[in-house]
Amino acid sequence: MRLIAITGAVALGIGLAGCASDDSGSGDGDGAAEDITVGVAMPTETSERWIADGEAVESQLEDAGYEVDLQFANDDIPRQQQQIDQMITNGADILIVASIDGTALATQLENAASKGIPVVAYDRLINGTENVDFYVTFDNYTVGVQQAQSLLRGLGYLDENNEETGLDEEKIIELFAGSPDDNNTGFFYQGAMDTLQPFLDDGRLTVPSGQIDMDTISTLRWDQATAQKRMEDLLTSTYNGGSDPLDGVLSPYDGISRGIITALENAGYGSTIEEGLPVLSGQDAEIASVKLIDDGVQYATIFKDTRKLASQAVDAATAFAEGEEPEANDTESYDNGVKVVPSFLLESDIVVADNIGELLVDSGYWSEEEIEAGVAE
Ligand code: BGC
Repeated sequence: MRLIAITGAVALGIGLAGCASDDSGSGDGDGAAEDITVGVAMPTETSERWIADGEAVESQLEDAGYEVDLQFANDDIPRQQQQIDQMITNGADILIVASIDGTALATQLENAASKGIPVVAYDRLINGTENVDFYVTFDNYTVGVQQAQSLLRGLGYLDENNEETGLDEEKIIELFAGSPDDNNTGFFYQGAMDTLQPFLDDGRLTVPSGQIDMDTISTLRWDQATAQKRMEDLLTSTYNGGSDPLDGVLSPYDGISRGIITALENAGYGSTIEEGLPVLSGQDAEIASVKLIDDGVQYATIFKDTRKLASQAVDAATAFAEGEEPEANDTESYDNGVKVVPSFLLESDIVVADNIGELLVDSGYWSEEEIEAGVAE
């Protein structure tokens, strides 16, 4: 099964050796890249993180000498399927895919495998197919742990080293999860729930709506408006329209956090945490949310450096182009239902107001001007 992709990769390596001698002296960068086209399928341009991922993968591949066919699918599954079909028809030699629905690409990937095209799953695992050769991502379980830790810090139960402070007050929270068709959602949820469970068990935390299981709290397509609507419904059903206390909300993504914040502000909880806005977590360090954190509105986000992920994807593509296997650092965690996909996991960081400068500005991810404006340049 893997043989097909490996054969394809080896064939690429051999093809390349031929090209390199034909074009000797004219190539730049890594010779393995010459005459190789990489199809890059990204899910959507409605979220900055995926624009940043797309741009980082494209520019790093181009710097390494590859041709790049980058497509965004507007969170539309048939569109992503068509884009991948088209990449294959147009002669892509390697595919890098961040899926919308992790189970919807089996036909496309079968087609890729039959042509010997190696497939790298980018950030989100592709499920139910043997035809995914490598996976580059962050440690998604740990991201979920960090989301819960940041909520617990904002509520005062943990200090900045994630040690318990000894605070013994009872607090009230609600929970949100990501899109049910994204394989990462379960990892984020599990990491977060394992971390919150001791606090739920001993009653320091309660979830008055009783909505705790992942399906009930999920947010299709990670959509901001969907999250805002669910928060509004919760406030109506359980919080007397916003007059009852609510201390914190677990949110798995900055766009979802912004929807929740809008609902809370409209219901009169205040405009900053100091004024009484519940503590919120997030994910992706999107510029609009980094500004909200800087302004004391959102408590935290999780920073996943898309430049590092792009670089791992380019390394994986290069290994395949050279007829080799990319280097994995996890060969156990990511079972896609058909096989365990060898993976490279990166680390993420909790961002709060105090470390925005260190983590995001000093590393060149966002400038001070961008944070001030809340808009990417
Ligand atoms: C990614 C997150 C992102 C979410 C919504 C997930 O698959 O891992 O970083 O927040 O999708 O785009």
